[in-house]
Amino acid sequence: MESSLAMFLYPLLLSLSLSLFVFLLLRATAGRRRRLPPGNLGLPFLGETLQLISAYKTENPEPFIDDRVSKYGAVFTTHVFGEPTVFSADPDTNRFILQNEGRLFESSYPGSISNLLGRHSLLLMRGSLHKRMHSLTMSFANSAIIRDHLLLDIDRLVRLNMDAWTGRVLLMEEAKKITFQLTVKQLMSFDPCEWTENLMKEYMLVIEGFFTIPLPIFSTTYRRAIQARGKVAEALSLVVRERRRESERGERKNDMLAALLDEEGGGGGFSDEEIVDFMLALLVAGYETTSTIMTLAVKHLTETPLALAQLKEEHDEIRARKVEEEAALEWEDYKSMPFTQCVVNETLRVANIISGVFRRAMTDVTIKDGYTIPKGWKVFASLRAVHMDHHHFKDARTFNPWRWQNSSGTSNNSMNVFTPFGGGPRRCPGAELARVELSVFLHRLVTQFSWMPAEQDKVIFFPTTRTQKRYPIIVRRLEPVEAM
Ligand code: HEM
Ligand SMILES: *[C@@H]1O[C@H](CO)[C@@H](O)[C@H](O)[C@H]1NC(C)=O
Ligand SMILES: *[C@@H]1O[C@H](CO)[C@@H](O)[C@H](O)[C@H]1NC(C)=O
Ligand SMILES: *[C@@H]1O[C@H](CO)[C@@H](O)[C@H](O)[C@H]1NC(C)=O
Repeated sequence: MESSLAMFLYPLLLSLSLSLFVFLLLRATAGRRRRLPPGNLGLPFLGETLQLISAYKTENPEPFIDDRVSKYGAVFTTHVFGEPTVFSADPDTNRFILQNEGRLFESSYPGSISNLLGRHSLLLMRGSLHKRMHSLTMSFANSAIIRDHLLLDIDRLVRLNMDAWTGRVLLMEEAKKITFQLTVKQLMSFDPCEWTENLMKEYMLVIEGFFTIPLPIFSTTYRRAIQARGKVAEALSLVVRERRRESERGERKNDMLAALLDEEGGGGGFSDEEIVDFMLALLVAGYETTSTIMTLAVKHLTETPLALAQLKEEHDEIRARKVEEEAALEWEDYKSMPFTQCVVNETLRVANIISGVFRRAMTDVTIKDGYTIPKGWKVFASLRAVHMDHHHFKDARTFNPWRWQNSSGTSNNSMNVFTPFGGGPRRCPGAELARVELSVFLHRLVTQFSWMPAEQDKVIFFPTTRTQKRYPIIVRRLEPVEAM
């Protein structure tokens, strides 16, 4: 009896323990292969989108990230904008994501944006074509080109616009006008005129469509944006065709379009459609970003009078060295603005115009601490979270340009965690240009005007970083500084 029971029991126990063993083994390996970062997927469909949006619509969006980082760690799982997403507030993980562009991750934009940008936009390109276009863009916005060609135009166009300022000025609108005119000049050598004005009107309708639902039936804004895109593309194709004919006759302008059209400039062999999409992408990439950073620099300086006074002193000195009062700003002048560069960095750090970048995992990717991001999942590398982290920047949430005076502004300067322009193969090719544009803008502003805010205004972060009222200020023209 006993032995038969044993005979019956042992195999059962054995098979039970075996299957338990197999189960545990499977779970362990499965766990090791696909252990998601901890987090909360929130409600079905909506996930945590509403929490994210309501946080980013306030002046202080930090708690959305802070709460999750303290609960789950710097890399966590959430569910936003219709998809499960791994959110990284960790500089090492961010660097890993950015550096592995094209190998483990690829850029990923919402449908509304990619439809309006066009198939051949640099922002959507991949692989070797992307590499070629990216370096072509770099070669037209590097320091040498800025020094020898662009600086003069930047200074001239900034002055031209400011000459018309009196009384109440919507700073964000003025900054947008300036950056649009600059980009058009840089792309195709046009100075501001009726044609560029009309182009800008249509173009602004395109931008409005970026953060809508990309279905014409649901959204009139989107429908209008698609129509406007057609008009902008048509206007640009006319220019491209004309310039192609000129280039065949041997005429060559010194601008980006010329570089795209001929082999000498690293281009050649692109269709008109490809060139138009490319130009549109550059207009988009440099426009909102640079004009917002100009506006927010002024806002922070206005709220930090000591910094504004020190900045003004630096620029009055530059003006005082000039014989002629209106003399153009030169490269040597730009290179002798140490405090301005601190203001530029600090504005980039606290403003975080691009709060982070979206990517998609091309395969299962194992990251720090053994977590796995499943193939096809969205990833958000948050640049903002790192810039606002007290571990990396002392009193991280205070605007303090002086922090950049010693070393690199971080408390741990061994680690380069300051990445307002992203990193890796998609690092912003306009980074240097944006710095110069902001510096020239500040130079002309503080040497020609005093100002005060016309009303209370606040910064919000959704759908993009901006001030709610376009930052209205009241300007007063200063008496010219006595030349020495
Ligand atoms: C303050 C101003 C600016 C900021 C904060 C900024 C930031 C960024 C960031 C973070 C990226 C990386 C996006 C990603 O990895 O997915 C990027 C890409 C890009 N930026 Fe900028 N940008 C600024 C101004 C400009 C300007 C003036 C230009 C014009 C030349 C420009 C052109 C581009 C282009 C073409 C890309 C796409 C690069 C690629 O995908 O290969 N940006 N920018
Ligand atoms: C420097 O970095 C280490 C590790 O990343 C961190 O523990 C420490 O708090 C940092 N130091 C400062 C002064 O922030
Ligand atoms: C920078 O260094 C100087 C001395 O080299 C010091 O007096 C100053 O307080 C430092 N500033 C900051 C912001 O750390
Ligand atoms: C500003 O930041 C850049 C890194 O993006 C750094 O190379 C540069 O030295 C910083 N400028 C100052 C004045 O600290």
